[in-house]
Amino acid sequence: MLVVILILCVCPVLQKVFPSLTKIVGTLGPNSRSVEVIEECLTAGMSVARFDFSWKDATYHQETLDNLRKAARNLKKLCPIMLDTVGPEIQVHNSTGAPIELKAGNHVTVTPDLSEAPSAEILPIKFGDLAKVVTKGDTLFIGQYLFTGSETTSLWLEVIETSGEEVICLVKNTATLAGPIFTLHVSQVHISMPTLSEYDKQVISTWGLQNSVDIISLSHTRSSEDVRELRAFLQSHDLQDTQIYAKVENAEGLEHFDEILQEADGIIISRGDLGIDLPPERVFMSQKTGIHKCNLAGKPVIITRVVDSMIDNLRPTRAEATDVANAVLDGTDAILLGAETLRGQYPVDAVSTVGRICAEAETVYNQSLHFKKVVRHVGEPMAHEESVASSAVRSAMKVKAAAIVVFTFSGRAARLIAKYRPPMPVLAVVFPREGSDPSKWRSYGTTQARQCFSVRGVYPLMGSTDEAETGGLTKEEYGIKLALNYGRSVGIVKPFDRVIIFEKIGDSSVVKIIECENSQ
Ligand SMILES: *[C@@H]1O[C@H](CO)[C@@H](O)[C@H](O)[C@H]1NC(C)=O
Ligand SMILES: *[C@@H]1O[C@H](CO)[C@@H](O)[C@H](O)[C@H]1NC(C)=O
Repeated sequence: MLVVILILCVCPVLQKVFPSLTKIVGTLGPNSRSVEVIEECLTAGMSVARFDFSWKDATYHQETLDNLRKAARNLKKLCPIMLDTVGPEIQVHNSTGAPIELKAGNHVTVTPDLSEAPSAEILPIKFGDLAKVVTKGDTLFIGQYLFTGSETTSLWLEVIETSGEEVICLVKNTATLAGPIFTLHVSQVHISMPTLSEYDKQVISTWGLQNSVDIISLSHTRSSEDVRELRAFLQSHDLQDTQIYAKVENAEGLEHFDEILQEADGIIISRGDLGIDLPPERVFMSQKTGIHKCNLAGKPVIITRVVDSMIDNLRPTRAEATDVANAVLDGTDAILLGAETLRGQYPVDAVSTVGRICAEAETVYNQSLHFKKVVRHVGEPMAHEESVASSAVRSAMKVKAAAIVVFTFSGRAARLIAKYRPPMPVLAVVFPREGSDPSKWRSYGTTQARQCFSVRGVYPLMGSTDEAETGGLTKEEYGIKLALNYGRSVGIVKPFDRVIIFEKIGDSSVVKIIECENSQ
């Protein structure tokens, strides 16, 4: 059932800038872990904080997380935590950080013998089966952690021959390996290591549980079984509310994309590794089809590696700026910044620059085309909820609403609305479970609210039943007031604006239109 009612509400004027609808995930590290810088990143538009366990230990990440919480508290903002697993990553062992120079044309041996020190002649790795899986002519890639590919700190090797457990390679480019971690990548070869490593399990069951992480980014997801395995692990470790974003970063993951998408809560298209696993001419297509599939399924999708040059420059290159805009036009939910915020010189500028490009691209995004595509894909008869959600978006477009306010508990209704990509923000009001304290990091509702932050256009707001009662308001009145106050404070709701309200009353979903009065 669909009811449309016109109500008047009072909205005073307030002028402020609103960030892009496209979300920004920031990886926190040495150049972005102080309370001050995190506050600036949050203000500049960072919506999700990523902790990459390929790098540094739990103690280090805990300090960063404690700072994030301080920053979020100071700004009265919510920010979800994303834990990124290491997965089947082959690291060059014993690297001390001392630079190793390798010359094109020379030979180097890759060995599982960990007693060796890494040098220009020999590189020890923690994986005994390399010689079994590679053959003559295969390409190996060794790069510093978060390599950018073009830099002289990344190394291409061609396999010449295997000898026992050792692999002898030809050095294809002159490069200097530097930094604390080097990772090895074998193009288009299945590495027989579990996707969820023992180290990852240990980190998730300790650090992850203590901090009740909102999202786990499952590195090197290669099949839906990988996602199911992590899901079972989370369930048995009291983390059943934690979402799983499958990170697709090689040809094998792309091959199983559809089944992975079905199991996962979201997808990260990791172009850093895809870019070395695939020939360069195939990378763009994996992005476009991947985003398209996620959009039709109504699941969030994140694109990585956009503004590498901002690691040491204040401005991105033209190609990078265009690339960010194209990802938005393709329909991505979020952009993930890795090295740019982790070790880059300009973490805050990277966030704000990417945000500005996204906002600009959103103004030319063909929303009605997307709407039609999703409606066609969903087909008829539509499920009840789906039909009301799409109607809410259609109404919002017809009346040129300034925002859509949705009451949600699990975040599902908000995601369903976002699936139709409304051109205006979706303010998702979440009331945590009765009796639980909304200021607490963990309670049913707070996790679900924070998770909404990775979805394009959705801005969650925490409601409090107690506050509603104290104010003598119904939950509905209170929720609308909360959303409109927020909308005004960030400048998206102005006098005479219309706002769409989407909520469930009993068994019916109801769509209302509210018109704001001028209080001046
Ligand atoms: C490399 O590390 C192993 C322990 O993981 C150690 O036993 C060995 O001595 C180290 N080798 C060098 C050359 O540093
Ligand atoms: C958007 O797509 C529709 C098709 O649904 C098309 O008619 C319209 O011209 C497109 N708008 C722009 C600005 O390209």
